[in-house]
Amino acid sequence: MTESARLATRKSAAVARGVATRGIYAARAENAELWNAEGRRFLDFAAGIAVNNTGHRHPRVMAAVAEQAQAFTHTCFHVAPYESYIALAERLNEATPGDFAKKTMLVTTGAEAVENAIKMARAFTGRSGVISFSGAFHGRTLLGMALTGKVAPYKKGFGAMPPEVAHAPFPNAFHGVTEVEALGQLERLFASSVDPERIAAIIIEPVQGEGGFNIAPFGFLRALREICDQHGIVLIADEVQAGMARTGRMFGFDHSNVVPDLVVMAKGLAGGFPLSAVTGRAEIVDAPNPGGLDGT
Ligand SMILES: Cc1ncc(COP(=O)(O)O)c(C=O)c1O
Repeated sequence: MTESARLATRKSAAVARGVATRGIYAARAENAELWNAEGRRFLDFAAGIAVNNTGHRHPRVMAAVAEQAQAFTHTCFHVAPYESYIALAERLNEATPGDFAKKTMLVTTGAEAVENAIKMARAFTGRSGVISFSGAFHGRTLLGMALTGKVAPYKKGFGAMPPEVAHAPFPNAFHGVTEVEALGQLERLFASSVDPERIAAIIIEPVQGEGGFNIAPFGFLRALREICDQHGIVLIADEVQAGMARTGRMFGFDHSNVVPDLVVMAKGLAGGFPLSAVTGRAEIVDAPNPGGLDGT
């Protein structure tokens, strides 16, 4: 029996079935290459599902980790804050689209950042509704799952979803949905079932990742910006997968020149370490009360 086969047997016995895996058990990885337990070499096109934008073990990331480990690993920013959090917030405030005062919060996963962006939009608008799109993926927490526009495998068997989440069709030529039709459907949604004045946020990926690498047409993003401005809705860019230069620009939204109110980042942000962020208009990020946004 190979070591990979032994690991597969142990995995089946010890790890939750819902955590599905592919067959390659990683022993080590460097830049774009990965070696399995038998020493076989693979070219890693998956990159941790769009996470390792700078490759495995980028020397500057490794050096930063080693330096930090010598100082401290965790104090909890809420208890004993530190400079590197503030420095990263400053850099993200600079790097994200929009020529206005911005602020940032850091958390650990994409789903957690999505949830916090929705909390900010709700606190800012005093509304609770959210609109996302068919084919969207926004994470696996209860709200992330509700926002995700795909039932199998993400929502199947998990019961009732959080209320006040509506899905509009994503313009997708492959599914025969034009930009005009998608906008028409959104208008019909507003006319028939959801009052736009109750909507806190519209959340969209500039390029759907899990949904099949579908680029949101620039005209569609411009129209969403206008709709949000008209109704006082917060426009949230989920840049978890498209962001951090994965589309050739720092953010997927940069290609369209449409400026979202909040940007959600994760994956490539920390070269394989669990770090995510919400950056956006200072007045929206600051809407929750002190202590309303936390995490250990
Ligand atoms: C667009 C998008 N949003 C959110 C998430 C959730 O991120 P995480 O898996 O870090 O919770 C993902 C993960 O694939 C994603 O692609």
